Amino acid sequence: MLAIDGPSGSGKGTVARRVAERLGWHLLDSGALYRLVALDASRKGVAFDDTAALAEVASRLDAHFLTAKDGAERIVLSGDDVTAAVRSEETGRGASAVAAIPAVREALFDRQRAFRRAPGLVADGRDMGTQVFADARLKVFLTASPEERARRRHKQLKDKGIDVSLAAVSRDIVDRDRRDSERSVAPLRPADDARILDSSGKPIDEVVQIVLDWVASI
Ligand code: DC
Repeated sequence: MLAIDGPSGSGKGTVARRVAERLGWHLLDSGALYRLVALDASRKGVAFDDTAALAEVASRLDAHFLTAKDGAERIVLSGDDVTAAVRSEETGRGASAVAAIPAVREALFDRQRAFRRAPGLVADGRDMGTQVFADARLKVFLTASPEERARRRHKQLKDKGIDVSLAAVSRDIVDRDRRDSERSVAPLRPADDARILDSSGKPIDEVVQIVLDWVASI
């Protein structure tokens, strides 16, 4: 069991996916669950200040993570392919808001734990090492400077054809970091026994290799 936590744009999504592929382990993208709650709530017209209704949405989430024949991951919500919508900036903002609600986190707890199956799990998020898989053998806290994280997010969005300025992405990252770290429930922070890995200036392959070496050494 490997827990990878860190702020937006630290590269943890990519690193977690590649490490899981190399090890042949399962992958939990816990951020996608919070994103799905936000998306489902907005599709159902649930207000973002109605915490009881949001917790209900989280506990009834009808979501599936599928791998298409070409290897691409598809996310299906109540029968609809929402792969692109899940990754949008708007959904990300909504996810950060619903993730601050304790009842929503509680409702997603068991669903996340259920991803832990043989031969192993790589779980990526904000509280994998501190809350959900506090007993993980290896915990990695992946960071990068805010400037680098903004540049990476900006490039990702441009590659997807989304036209947004670097300044706007930077502001969004700073806001999201603040909300995720300052919330009272499961704030973003490294577990006491996490290994800190700063990916600033490191190519992704190097970061993946460092994590694989750590897995091999435990
Ligand atoms: O990693 P991401 O951008 O997909 O996450 C979306 C939001 O969900 C992020 O703002 C914080 C929240 N989140 C969380 O609170 N706990 C997690 N384990 C994963 C994500």
